[in-house]
Amino acid sequence: MKILVTGGTGFIGSHTCVELLDAGYEVVIIDNLSNSKKEVVSYIERITGKKVSFYENDVCDKDALRKIFNENNIDAVIHFAGYKAVGESVLKPLMYYRNNLDSTLSLLEVMDEFKVKKIAFSSSATVYGKPNSLPIREDFPLSTTNPYGTTKLIIEGILRDLYNSDNDWSIAILRYFNPIGAHSSGLIGENPNGIPNNLMPYIIKVATGELDCLGVFGNDYDTHDGTGVRDYIHVVDLAKGHVKAIKKILKDNGCDAYNLGTGKGYSVLDLVNTFKKVNDVDIKYQIKERRKGDIDACYADPSYAYEKLGWKALKDINEMCKDAYNYVKKEDRK
Ligand code: UD1
Repeated sequence: MKILVTGGTGFIGSHTCVELLDAGYEVVIIDNLSNSKKEVVSYIERITGKKVSFYENDVCDKDALRKIFNENNIDAVIHFAGYKAVGESVLKPLMYYRNNLDSTLSLLEVMDEFKVKKIAFSSSATVYGKPNSLPIREDFPLSTTNPYGTTKLIIEGILRDLYNSDNDWSIAILRYFNPIGAHSSGLIGENPNGIPNNLMPYIIKVATGELDCLGVFGNDYDTHDGTGVRDYIHVVDLAKGHVKAIKKILKDNGCDAYNLGTGKGYSVLDLVNTFKKVNDVDIKYQIKERRKGDIDACYADPSYAYEKLGWKALKDINEMCKDAYNYVKKEDRK
């Protein structure tokens, strides 16, 4: 079975390629490298001992997509490619709507032309907006607070409409909670350039000395220590969830959404303290104002994914912190 992975050199995409190859699937990647590096392809091959077909193209380019479908017998697609920075999406909404929607529509149109009607889509827990209660179930009301989140919600709607128009489609919408960690080899992981927006990349840059001090955004939330609580999930567990979703869509038609989270919530200070303990480093932090748009707490009810896909997260917060730092420490040794 051959899987096309859009955005396959990105953080979640690369880990998913590894898990697909380990599970015996063949992998074709399309990525324009706008936020990743070509070396990732060779790291995926090194980890798995298997070959990957790589196309350096934009998913908005329908002719490039047609070439890929002509040259490969694709059975299903996992669609990761897209812009993903919340703050940037607020400043450049048109860029986000144009890119994320155009690429998805191009992909779906070409899939339809080639009668490949099986897709897993990379959505986000951001589609739950500010939930009324916890843990979050898939049938909770959906809303968004920024253009990035709105592109995810619009695409979920497009996929549902597509399935309703043609029941031959088989679609898994995967709503990620907060992916962190890295592959245990230390070859692939996450370390964005510049000042990170997300918590774990920020903690890592303080640990390496690149940044001085973490700002903790608020300590007056309604949580056990006052700092924001999130459902952090190891990226390898998340990647394995994609393999289960692929198995499901190769077998059954339908269009369904699944939470990919652990079901456990940890606060900012829980994460900082765990990182310090398992990596034996100091993380200086300072309490700052709340960040606009943040909620007190967010964690999944992952039981539907277990029931329907047979998937659950296995790795704990210690492993997430250890692997995340291991990747950055090994970066200059590759
Ligand atoms: C954010 C996005 C979400 C996106 C996800 C990608 C929003 C509202 N949500 O989730 O749509 O899918 O990133 O991973 O933007 N924090 C600090 N200091 C920092 C950074 C973060 O204290 O320097 C705190 C935040 O206030 C929050 C927690 O850490 O309580 C996690 O923040 P972050 O890693 O940015 O993820 P989310 O905001 O949950």
